[in-house]
Amino acid sequence: MFKKYTLVALLLLGFIAQASANSSVKTAIASAHPLATAAGFEIISQGGNVFDAAVAVSATLAVVEPSGSGLGGGGYWLVHRASDNKTRFIDGREKAPLAAHKDLYVDSAGQVINPRLSLDGAKAAAIPGLPAALVHLAEHYGKLPLARSLAPAIRHARNGFVVGAHHLSLLKNRANVIKQFPASRDIFLVKGQLPEHFAVLRQVDLANTLNQLARHGRAGFYANEVADKLLTAVQRAGGIWTTEDLQNYQVVEREPVVGNYRGIKITSAPPSSAGGIVLLEALTILSAYDLAKLDKLTQIHLITEAMRRAYHDRALYLGDSDFVSIPVQRLLSNDYAAGLRSSIRMDAVLPSKQLSGDVLPDSEGGHTTHFSIIDAEGNRVAATLSINFPFGSGFVASGTGVLLNDEMDDFVSHAGPNGYGLVGSAANMIAPGKRMLSSMTPTFLEDDKRIAVLGTPGGSRIISMVLLATLEFAKATSPMSWVKLPRFHHQYLPDVLEYENTAFTQQEVVALKGLGHSLQATANPYGNMHAAVLYKDTHTLNAASDPRGEGFATVK
Ligand code: GLY
Repeated sequence: MFKKYTLVALLLLGFIAQASANSSVKTAIASAHPLATAAGFEIISQGGNVFDAAVAVSATLAVVEPSGSGLGGGGYWLVHRASDNKTRFIDGREKAPLAAHKDLYVDSAGQVINPRLSLDGAKAAAIPGLPAALVHLAEHYGKLPLARSLAPAIRHARNGFVVGAHHLSLLKNRANVIKQFPASRDIFLVKGQLPEHFAVLRQVDLANTLNQLARHGRAGFYANEVADKLLTAVQRAGGIWTTEDLQNYQVVEREPVVGNYRGIKITSAPPSSAGGIVLLEALTILSAYDLAKLDKLTQIHLITEAMRRAYHDRALYLGDSDFVSIPVQRLLSNDYAAGLRSSIRMDAVLPSKQLSGDVLPDSEGGHTTHFSIIDAEGNRVAATLSINFPFGSGFVASGTGVLLNDEMDDFVSHAGPNGYGLVGSAANMIAPGKRMLSSMTPTFLEDDKRIAVLGTPGGSRIISMVLLATLEFAKATSPMSWVKLPRFHHQYLPDVLEYENTAFTQQEVVALKGLGHSLQATANPYGNMHAAVLYKDTHTLNAASDPRGEGFATVK
C-alpha cells in the first residue's frame, strides 16, 4: 500500500496547510500529528464546534498515527460544553470479549501459556470502543453530521500521507509481529520490508471502513459488512470475539474526578482509568507542602514519595468501577492524604516493600496518543486514545484495514514477570465485558486566570507526566514549559526512580541516592504531551506540542 509519490504527498500537505478556520471564535488545537491538527481546523472552518473537531482529530490520528491509536482501539474524551457548563468523561475504553475469563492466558497450573498471546495477534484484542465513541461525540455534542467530521480522515486514508521518522522507528520495533499477519504486512510493509523515508502510506480498506461508519453510524462498524469481516478474521486467527460482543459494545458517560491543589481545580479521568485518582491522590499528599519554598532536591524527593504512595493504591484498589467497588472518596480525602504524608521522611525514602498489600504484576504499553482542544468560549476536549503497544496487536482484520489493539495486556492476567513492571490486584483481573485498567489521564486545570487542557501517551508514566505538568502549571508558566519539562517517574514497583537525562544534575543524582532512592536514567526521552490554554481575562489562547514528538499545536 506504499507509493513513493513524494510530490503528491507534498501537494497534499500544502492543501492541508491552507485549510484555515473561518470561525469567529478562536480555537487552539495541539495533537501528535500536523495532519490531525489541520483536520480539526478544517472542520471548525466548516462550522463545526470543538467536539466535531475532536471527532476529526481522533479519526485522522487513527489514519496518520496508526502506531498509537485507531478504529481497532479505544480511548477517553474529557469534554466541557460552555453553554450548559457540562463536563463529562466519555469512556470509550475497549472491553474484554464475553468469552474472556481470568485464566485466558494461563494453563491449569496458572503458568503463562505464551507471553505473546496477550500482546500479539487476534487473541490480544479487546472489543474496540473508538468507533462508538466517535458516533457518540458527533450525536450528543457535535453540530455537524458524523460524515462531515470523518471526511479528512477518509481522504488521508484513501490518498495517503507521508510517513515520518516516528512511524518508521516504531514500525521497525514491531515489524516482526506485523510480518506474521498478511493483511498487516500488505498495508504497513513493502515486500515484507520497512518502507523508505518519504514513502506514502495509503489505507484503502481503512478508508472504506471509515466510510461505512460515516454512512451508517455505529452499525457501519459493529454490524453488517465490517462486523462480519472483523469476526471472520479474528475467529480464524484464534480470537474469541462474537457477534454479541460487537452488538453489545456501548460507551459510558461518567462523572470525571475533581480535586483541588493549592487553588487549582483539577478535572480528570475516573475509572476505568487510574489516571485521575492517582493524579489527585499524589497532589493531595503534596498540597500540604509549599514546594516553591523548598530546594529542588527536596521537591524531587517529596514528589517521588507522593508518586510511590499513589501508584501503590493504583495497584491495590483500581479496576473497572462497573465491576469492582473502588473507595474513591477515601482515596481522595484530605485525611487519607495526611495519613500517607505522615510516613514521608525528609531525610530518607520509605522502600516500596514496606508498603503493604498483595499485588500481582500488571503490564501496560507506552504507545498511545493525546490531543487537546479549547476555544475562546471555554468549550474543550482532552482526549487520550490507544491501541496499547506500538501498532497494537499487529493484527489487521483482513478487508477492513482495522489494526486491532492489544489492550487485553492491560489486565492483570498472570503471575509472571512483564516488561513494564506495573502491579495490580484482583480489581483488575479479566472478566467478560470488563474494561481493563488504564493510566490515560486527559485532564483540565483551572485557576482564577487560566483553563488548561492537557495529557500525554506513555503507559504507566502518563500519570506522573501529568502530575509534573500540573506542578509546572502552578508556577504560572506557558504551555511549552509544561510539555517540555524534563521528567521523572516512580510507580511503587519496581522501586526505582526513573528520570530523563536532563531532569537531574549529577549532584542531585548523588544526593537522591544518599536519601535511599534507586535511580535509573531512561534510555530515551519519553512522552508526547499536548496542551492548550485559555486566558480568562483576555479570552486569548495558546497551545504547545511536546518537542519530543512530531506534533503540531496552533491557534486560529
Ligand atoms: N494502554 C495504555 C493505557 O491504557 O494506559
